Amino acid sequence: MKDIYTLGIESSCDETAVSIVKNGREVLSNVINTQIPIHTLYGGVVPELASRNHIDNISAVTKMAVKEANMELKDIDVIACTYGPGLVGALLVGLSYGKALSYALNKPLVGTNHIEGHIAANYITYKELEPPFLCVMMSGGNTQIVHVKSYTEFEVLGRTKDDAIGEAFDKVARVIGLGYPGGPKIDKMAQNGISNIELPKTHIDGLDFSFSGIKTAIINLHHKNPDVNKENLCASFEKAITEMLMEKVKMAIDKTNIKKIVLAGGVSANSYIRKEFEKLEEDGIKIYMPDLKLCTDNAAMIASAGYYNYLAGKVDDLSLNAIPNLKLD
Ligand code: KG4
Repeated sequence: MKDIYTLGIESSCDETAVSIVKNGREVLSNVINTQIPIHTLYGGVVPELASRNHIDNISAVTKMAVKEANMELKDIDVIACTYGPGLVGALLVGLSYGKALSYALNKPLVGTNHIEGHIAANYITYKELEPPFLCVMMSGGNTQIVHVKSYTEFEVLGRTKDDAIGEAFDKVARVIGLGYPGGPKIDKMAQNGISNIELPKTHIDGLDFSFSGIKTAIINLHHKNPDVNKENLCASFEKAITEMLMEKVKMAIDKTNIKKIVLAGGVSANSYIRKEFEKLEEDGIKIYMPDLKLCTDNAAMIASAGYYNYLAGKVDDLSLNAIPNLKLD
């Protein structure tokens, strides 16, 4: 079969990213311009600033990605572009740019679901990985357990009823004064702490999650006792939230009898969560986790997911619009 080169574009939140991936698995370039230093000043992502910065950066990031891959734009076969979920203004920048490239180069446009992209990050890390498997998707905007039936078919078995897990990390970090983005900061602090603070864990029926209770408990605890040891608080928070996560993952394994678990999304970079998942291997469960640099937003994962959609014949036309609350199933 002829090699297929996919150019992926990602602009759903605060990263402007472009990547070229060969045959869905081999990364030839992966350029990411992060806006974290800009949004840090405000304690979180400011949507209008995100859109403006994507506009400023998208051309240069694309040129760099093409150059790093030692290619020319005319050699690209497919343009894969995130069209949701995400911030609408931010999505529109990458999508419009992708449409313009598709039109000018006369190459197919594949609108790509950002969550599918996070799952596909694992196809880059593990060349042998193929569906079906269960994916524990945990990012700043999403937390769900997904039955990945094929490269393009998904069934969500459970999802958060309120906050996403990354949102809980970020909000807790903000309240206790660690700044944005909170996940990596809590991860680092927790490594020097002891999980000696009892925190309430929310139990809801089925495979759904709820993370708002534990977040509020930490916020209240910190307000009542601002001198509480932050390292211990972070360690206790990580332990409790991971136990809530693992309880549902084990239920999903029992329910489906699928013993192949794939992690995805920014929170899958968390060192404690990764260690706890590794322990499942002792029970015969095979665990896959993306390379750390592919856990958070990037365009290589979008190019990979776009490639598999292209193979499945899912090509879009220029009327494709951004869908801020796009779902997986
Ligand atoms: O997947 P991602 O880059 O963006 C979305 O698609 O949402 O995830 C970002 C989230 C943020 O909430 C960030 O705090 C969290 O991932 N995160 C982490 C870690 N690294 C990033 N959370 C916990 N521990 C980490 N090491």
